[in-house]
Amino acid sequence: MMREVLLVIHILLGIMWAGGIMFVGWGVYPVTLKMPLENQRKFLIQLMKWTHHLFTLIGSLVIFTGFLLGTVFGPIKSWEALFYSTYGHLWLTAFFLGIFALLWGIFVGYRGMMRLFLDDFVWIEAVNGNKEPLMRGLFRLTVMESMEVIGFIALVVIMVLL
Ligand code: HEM
Repeated sequence: MMREVLLVIHILLGIMWAGGIMFVGWGVYPVTLKMPLENQRKFLIQLMKWTHHLFTLIGSLVIFTGFLLGTVFGPIKSWEALFYSTYGHLWLTAFFLGIFALLWGIFVGYRGMMRLFLDDFVWIEAVNGNKEPLMRGLFRLTVMESMEVIGFIALVVIMVLL
């Protein structure tokens, strides 16, 4: 019973974490491209400040519930089970992949976004007609965020194999 409840919570949080980040990237961000530049900038800064804390919290809880599901409520009760079983290997991979995706989101994704959104030069250039630096910055962010999405896809594959 406890395990089922925890699994439901884990799955819901996992959906929110991966789906939320993809929705911001594919659902919200493209709409900001239709806004006047100054509004786009202000909106993206506020959006990132708000969602960053939310996603960090949700991601941490996904990893924490995943940890419990594999150990306290799962088959990993010894170091042998962790290191010498397929389940242990898959779980360990998911555990580190989850931590990697979370840290990537905080230190590469969020930091990179705030650096670009707070960079006066890039935005003043864009308002004055030179959109090149802004476009290059936004493209770099897209590539960095794609890394996180690839991590989520890998995680879901591991979840199915577990
Ligand atoms: C994007 C992130 C994640 C999503 C969307 C996700 C989703 C899921 C889903 C749908 C299941 C049910 C699978 C099944 O019963 O066949 C599951 C189970 C599980 N997940 Fe995750 N998960 C995520 C991250 C993680 C992480 C980081 C860990 C860390 C160790 C983890 C550990 C587990 C464990 C131990 C189970 C139970 C598997 C079992 O014994 O049947 N998950 N997860």
